[in-house]
Amino acid sequence: MARLVKRYRSRPYAVTIGGETKYICGCGLSSTQPFCNGTHKITQTEAPGTLSWYDQDGQRHDTPDSFPDICSDEQTKDA
Ligand code: FES
Repeated sequence: MARLVKRYRSRPYAVTIGGETKYICGCGLSSTQPFCNGTHKITQTEAPGTLSWYDQDGQRHDTPDSFPDICSDEQTKDA
């Protein structure tokens, strides 16, 4: 089974619990989920209006965003 979810966020969420701050991955690309490992930096050059996906080697592939109805976190992209 596979699942495709759009993510718009390109930076982590800072969460402070008990005085300790942790950074939770918001881009979906971290290999140390749920924590950010800095991989989000490769999303900084994504072009607006495209759908970008990354292969196992971290190589980006861009295509016109032709999946407008896929579940999205766009509502929270700047949260
Ligand atoms: S926000 Fe995903 S790796 Fe940093």
